[in-house]
Amino acid sequence: MQTADIRAQWEGAATGWARWEATIATWMEPATEAMLAMAGVDAGARVLDVACGAGSQTLRAAQRVGTQGHVVASDIADTMLHHVQENARAAGLTNVTTLAGAAEDLAVAAESFDAVICRLGLMLFSDPAKALLAVRRALQPRGKVAVVVFTTPAANNVYGPIHANTAPPGWEDATSAGTTRDLLAWRSRRDRALVRRQRLRGR
Ligand SMILES: C[S@@+](CC[C@H](N)C(=O)[O-])C[C@H]1O[C@@H](n2cnc3c(N)ncnc32)[C@H](O)[C@@H]1O
Repeated sequence: MQTADIRAQWEGAATGWARWEATIATWMEPATEAMLAMAGVDAGARVLDVACGAGSQTLRAAQRVGTQGHVVASDIADTMLHHVQENARAAGLTNVTTLAGAAEDLAVAAESFDAVICRLGLMLFSDPAKALLAVRRALQPRGKVAVVVFTTPAANNVYGPIHANTAPPGWEDATSAGTTRDLLAWRSRRDRALVRRQRLRGR
């Protein structure tokens, strides 16, 4: 797929993705904290967040690095970056800036970051190897990178069935497989059904 098509696809998904930001942040909290620790996102660090989405992990990184540090949040979709800016402003963070563009073509100075993070992005890129070379160039020689990715389809009980074009456990009503938007919609339907079931039990 061409970069323009990927951008258009994510622009279309951005508002929906941002609506789920708090939920995603909660689901992803342990993995996010592990990623930040492994990348050495500590006080004063200069951090690049690749494929930042609506930016809940960006904000966690910004809190960790403090006012002496800085986080550049980068994404292919401008709308995602708009959400990051709004969320950073709402959180009172002044050490976050944004950068639009594909991870494969990171427009940053060589060796200008201490840490690079990427949560739920790398496995979606059209050229992950090219993106990793760009990340390597962005990092100072002793810099660190940590990413969160899905496991293999066979070991993944959510995306595995989607990959195999079947519904994940509990989402058997889903008839088509594919986008994150589909997944979130299925999950939302399932959660609403669970809430209804709990209410009925509580009567
Ligand atoms: C599954 S979302 C993850 C967002 C965020 N990191 C999180 O964990 O909530 C994937 C993100 O990757 C971005 N993306 C997809 N392909 C990209 C590329 N080639 N370069 C940069 N960003 C990309 C999308 O716009 C989207 O924001």
